[in-house]
Amino acid sequence: MSKLFSPATYRGMTLKNRVIVAPMCQYSAQHGFANDWHLVHLGRFALGGFSLVIVEAAGVTPEGRISYGCLGLWEDAQIAPLTRIVDFLHKNGAKAGIQLAHAGRKANSPIPWRGGFNETDAEKRDLGFEAWTSVAPSAERHSASYPVPEALDEAGLARVREGFVAAAKRADAAGFDMIEVHSAHGYLLNQFLSPIANKRSDQYGGSFGNRMRFPLEVARAVRDAWPKDKPAFVRISVTDWIEGGVTVADSIAYARELKAIGYDVVHCSSSGFDGAKIPVGPLYQVPLAEAVRKGADVPTAAVGLITTAQEAEQILEKGEADLIALARQALDDPNWPLHAMRELIAGDTYGNWPLQAGYAVRNKDRALGTTR
Ligand SMILES: Cc1cc2nc3c(=O)[nH]c(=O)nc-3n(C[C@H](O)[C@H](O)[C@H](O)COP(=O)(O)O)c2cc1C
Repeated sequence: MSKLFSPATYRGMTLKNRVIVAPMCQYSAQHGFANDWHLVHLGRFALGGFSLVIVEAAGVTPEGRISYGCLGLWEDAQIAPLTRIVDFLHKNGAKAGIQLAHAGRKANSPIPWRGGFNETDAEKRDLGFEAWTSVAPSAERHSASYPVPEALDEAGLARVREGFVAAAKRADAAGFDMIEVHSAHGYLLNQFLSPIANKRSDQYGGSFGNRMRFPLEVARAVRDAWPKDKPAFVRISVTDWIEGGVTVADSIAYARELKAIGYDVVHCSSSGFDGAKIPVGPLYQVPLAEAVRKGADVPTAAVGLITTAQEAEQILEKGEADLIALARQALDDPNWPLHAMRELIAGDTYGNWPLQAGYAVRNKDRALGTTR
């Protein structure tokens, strides 16, 4: 009996298995609107057997986008193209989630594969190029290649909070089954949590209790606005991997608060600030998911260089996490769950493929003598 292919229920959402797609920016939107790229990119994961597909970080305000190519949920017109994606995911057996995000001082970043802001005027027109001034807890830049942001005042904080709430309502209107609040990777909420970016002297800065205040205000407001029968996840950087930054113990305390507010799963990632010393390698963040799961007594999703079916099964067997999230491995093999089933489940698993493909892949494997 495979744990990876056993169902999991969070509030009114039952996942058919425990392998989910982590949010991945595509830098392919214009003015925050989803398009055919997003439909096909995300749709293939439903066809591949993932139980939950989490749509990339969607800016809750225009200036909260990581880049001008990122999705947004700051206006009602952005709902319809997302509904088209949600409907496709549902029709093909997957639940649909979306990550609600504000990038803070890391907003207005260049598109990664371009290696900088090198768009010609013609490209700027074609790509819907936009540039803006970013906002943050403090007027401290992320690194030498980022501009100094404006520090958020009370009105600015209210605008961000309201942006998250309105975006959650739009995600519900689009038909999403879950939302994930992005509180990781050195983006705005993480900037509040970490002393590396938060130099405030008001009630939102100083002690970890004060630094948690704004992220928890946002989390609470979002949870209140999001339907009771739908689960809310939160993504955190469990450690900054920097001396003097957020520690695992801090994150356990934060996760306890989030659980008390009504967050159902803590998606455990790490880092996001310049100068981090990250011990990258297979399964490198799994111990973080385990620490939060045990320390805060909350379900966790593990993510980060999880690539094989056996590894994923073992993480669940050992009680290190409740869900397995894949990002790059899902890009590499969008049919990863269907292939993992062949390894972990005895007998004919071709019935889990889309009807249009399962019989044909079975025939191919029979012809080659590779069926189990
Ligand atoms: C192309 C790409 C885009 C990403 N975009 C996001 C994002 O929108 N939100 C987020 O929280 N993490 C994002 N991430 C991080 C992934 O969700 C994941 O945590 C990370 O890649 C580690 O998992 P992996 O080893 O399975 O790729 C992105 C990663 C990649 C490769």
